Amino acid sequence: MQATLEISGKTRVFGCISDPISHVRAPSVFNPLFEKHGIDAVMVPLHVPPRGLSEFIMGLRAMPNFGGMSITLPHKVPIMEFCDEIGQQGKLVGAVNYAAFDKDRRLIADNCDGSGFVSGLLAAGHEIAQRRILMVGAGGAARAIAFSLADSGISHLSIANRTMSTAEALVEAVSSAYPNTEVQPAPPNPKGFDVIINTTSLGLNEDDKLPIDPKLLNPSQLVAEIIMNPEETAILKAAKTVGCRIHYGRPMFDHQVAIQAKLFGYNFSI
Ligand code: ATR
Repeated sequence: MQATLEISGKTRVFGCISDPISHVRAPSVFNPLFEKHGIDAVMVPLHVPPRGLSEFIMGLRAMPNFGGMSITLPHKVPIMEFCDEIGQQGKLVGAVNYAAFDKDRRLIADNCDGSGFVSGLLAAGHEIAQRRILMVGAGGAARAIAFSLADSGISHLSIANRTMSTAEALVEAVSSAYPNTEVQPAPPNPKGFDVIINTTSLGLNEDDKLPIDPKLLNPSQLVAEIIMNPEETAILKAAKTVGCRIHYGRPMFDHQVAIQAKLFGYNFSI
């Protein structure tokens, strides 16, 4: 394969840490963007088995030309122990997915799953402040999104999930962090909500059932998705047919990349 980046002694190095490593996508997302924006930087995959995490961070701290990293499983939680500062979202979620060294080689980390989603929604021109929101799903991504929604001044959040105990636990966590936001567990009934967000994996496969009943939607509602592939999931298609505004999963990803790049010291305009 032909190299597209010119790496010299001045090139700043970033990493994507994971175990296993072969599936990671961050290098193939960041490197073309570094090139597009004329940034002399490269992101490489870094295969770090869990038992080596402590020594790995110590080594990076000693390397002034190493700027930061995208963090994937299984490191999102254990790496927090070795960070000098964790952002608000990372603390609330209890996991981080990116980190960078500051000029004193202090490692600063945060979680951008939720902020990426909210930022993508706002950039598309959708309002969420003072809005009533139904989120279907209460898994890892949902947890991050729930805290970010509460942080964005929504008026109400209902959380529906197949396993209701998980939804209840998330409601509890969000209510205690944001006591002024009304948060409650609920069935997946979109009636009375301004925005409906699917954070479940329903929609990834063609034969999946729908996360909500589209017959209960009305055209004043916005239906948002976090699944990127397929671009238009069955629930988005059904919502479009009803006349709802829809929001694809892709902007969440693009905005996460931009948020990570900002901590790395770069401005990727989207
Ligand atoms: P992610 O990290 O992408 O959020 P996750 O943490 O595995 O993934 O969460 C998947 C979400 O999809 C959960 O809310 C899950 O519901 P449960 O908590 O009941 O498992 C939901 N989900 C997955 N398969 C589902 C199905 N067949 N029907 C309804 N919900 C489903």
